[in-house]
Amino acid sequence: NSIESASFEWSAPSNIALVKYWGKKENQIPANPSISFTLNNCKTITKLDVVKKLENNSFSFDLLFEGKPKEDFKPKIQKFFERIEKYCPFLKDYHFKIDTQNTFPHSSGIASSASGMAALAMNIMSLEKTINPAISDDYFYSKASFLARLGSGSACRSIKGEVVVWGNHVQINGSSDLFGVEFSEIHSNFKNYQDTILLVDKGEKQVSSTVGHDLMHNHPYAERRFAQAHENLSQIKAILSSGNVAEFIKIVESEALTLHAMMMTSMPYFILMKPNTLEIINKIWKFRNGTQIPVCFTLDAGANVHVLYPESVKENVLQFIQDELVGYCQNGQYICDEIGNGAKSN
Ligand code: PMV
Repeated sequence: NSIESASFEWSAPSNIALVKYWGKKENQIPANPSISFTLNNCKTITKLDVVKKLENNSFSFDLLFEGKPKEDFKPKIQKFFERIEKYCPFLKDYHFKIDTQNTFPHSSGIASSASGMAALAMNIMSLEKTINPAISDDYFYSKASFLARLGSGSACRSIKGEVVVWGNHVQINGSSDLFGVEFSEIHSNFKNYQDTILLVDKGEKQVSSTVGHDLMHNHPYAERRFAQAHENLSQIKAILSSGNVAEFIKIVESEALTLHAMMMTSMPYFILMKPNTLEIINKIWKFRNGTQIPVCFTLDAGANVHVLYPESVKENVLQFIQDELVGYCQNGQYICDEIGNGAKSN
């Protein structure tokens, strides 16, 4: 079975971890399970044109980023194709034109690897389904997540569902180290949960996540940290189902600071927070104590702050951000996002 040519287009969102993935084993197997909110507005849109070729002894692709050829992303894609070839033996039969763009500013310090790898994986699954129409939806989405994981670990949480668990956990049915699974027992308090991303530092990351994950090997606190992630996932599972926002805040903020604590205690050690990151955290705590409005923060592997809060307090929190936090953002920039539900075919 084969086809001569086809075109596909998928968008896939970024995601923000609540319990963080930091540390991995061979073949992109996570050292601990993680859980994330899928975002809605921060996404990558990727168009894939495929044309059958005559010879099939190497990968062949052109890459456009925002309409222009992008040579420096090519090695990443080449490596991704090499990793997934044994699961997608048809790849060398085609020439690919990959045309990709993000809805968020390029150098905003928002990682585009999760949304980018998820969008590419969805397109590859559309090609597989065109070649083999009999594959089920379940196989389609699970394998898309499996492939995305091989591109960038956290990308496997950007495929399907509002809340996604990646990594084996005794209390989460069907959970796997190989792909993300949707977690659907969510209380209405978390419906349309908001994430306003404050862009504190838009510079290139000092440390790639690959290097960061590696530093968890021989890390003095690694084993305790991995056990803690299991404990926190058990707790947040119960919290997401019961709707206890106060308890949610404790786990989420502790996880953010623990992620950064792991970086500060590795060898070599590093600090990805900036002075303004800490200013913002302190302002959030003061505002929460003063108003009892349940707003909290989380962090990725960088200086930007994700401000998380229920939709019901949106107006108050946006006013607070305008009045007190925008001054700490680079060029006053921030992005309003909220929970979304995964990749979409355009
Ligand atoms: O997907 P990677 O390999 O870039 O790792 C990302 C890890 C964090 O974003 C820091 C945490 C997470 O769970 O998303």
